Amino acid sequence: MKFSKTVGSTAFKLEQLDSGAPLDSFVCPVEEYNVYLYKEAMRSQNDHVALTWLLRERSTGKIAAYMSLIADAIKLSVSEKELHDLNYPFKTIPAMKIAKLAVSKEFAGKYKGIGSFMIDSARTIARKCNDHYFSCRFLTVDADIEHNKGIRTFYEKNGFFLNSELYNENRKTISMRKDLYRIGD
Ligand SMILES: CC(C)(COP(=O)(O)OP(=O)(O)OC[C@H]1O[C@@H](n2cnc3c(N)ncnc32)[C@H](O)[C@@H]1OP(=O)(O)O)[C@@H](O)C(=O)NCCC(=O)NCCS
Repeated sequence: MKFSKTVGSTAFKLEQLDSGAPLDSFVCPVEEYNVYLYKEAMRSQNDHVALTWLLRERSTGKIAAYMSLIADAIKLSVSEKELHDLNYPFKTIPAMKIAKLAVSKEFAGKYKGIGSFMIDSARTIARKCNDHYFSCRFLTVDADIEHNKGIRTFYEKNGFFLNSELYNENRKTISMRKDLYRIGD
C-alpha cells in the first residue's frame, strides 16, 4: 500500500519522543539506528542536541518510523547560490538537519512511502519555524552511504541535491540539501 498524507493523518500520528514512550516495537535493518532510538535519543533530546519525532500507528501504538531533527547551517558554492537564487554575502545559509531517519522493517513491508512522508513532515516542521520562530531555508542530511548504498537515490527522489562544497568521495556520508521554498516544492 502507498503511504500517503491521508493514510498518515488518519491511521498514524507524529509525536515527540517522551520518556514514558515504549520504543521496543521499532526494529529497522540497521542496528545502529535501533540502538540510537533505544539508548541515545532521549538523552540527546534532554540535552537539546537532537529532538526526536515518532510516527506511531494509532491502533497498535507501534512505531513505524522515527526522525531526529537538529539546527544546521550550510555553505553553498557560487553556482549553488545562483541555483537557489540566494544572492547574499553570508558565508552560511540556515537549515534544519535530519540527523537520523529510519523506517521499521515491519511497516516498510506493509507500506511504500513512509520515509518520504517523514521528509514531508520535517519540511512542514521547518516551515512552521519560519512562520513563527526563526529563519531556515534548507532541509539537510548526511546521507548514510555506509549502511545504505542506494540512499542518495532516496533523497534525490525526495528533492535533495548534493552539496558540492562538502562533497568528498571518501566519506561515509554524503551531505545533501533540499530547498524548503524553491525547486519542486
Ligand atoms: C532509507 C529509508 C528511510 C527509506 O524509507 P522508505 O519508506 O523505504 O522510502 P520510500 O518508500 O519513501 O521511498 C521513496 C523512493 O525512494 C526509493 N528508495 C528508498 N530507499 C532506497 C534505497 N536504499 N536505494 C534506492 N532507492 C531507494 C524508493 O524505491 C522510492 O522510489 P519510487 O518513488 O520511485 O517508488 C528506509 O529504508 C530506512 O529506514 N532504512 C534504514 C535506515 C537508513 O538507512 N536511514 C537513512 C539515514 S541517512
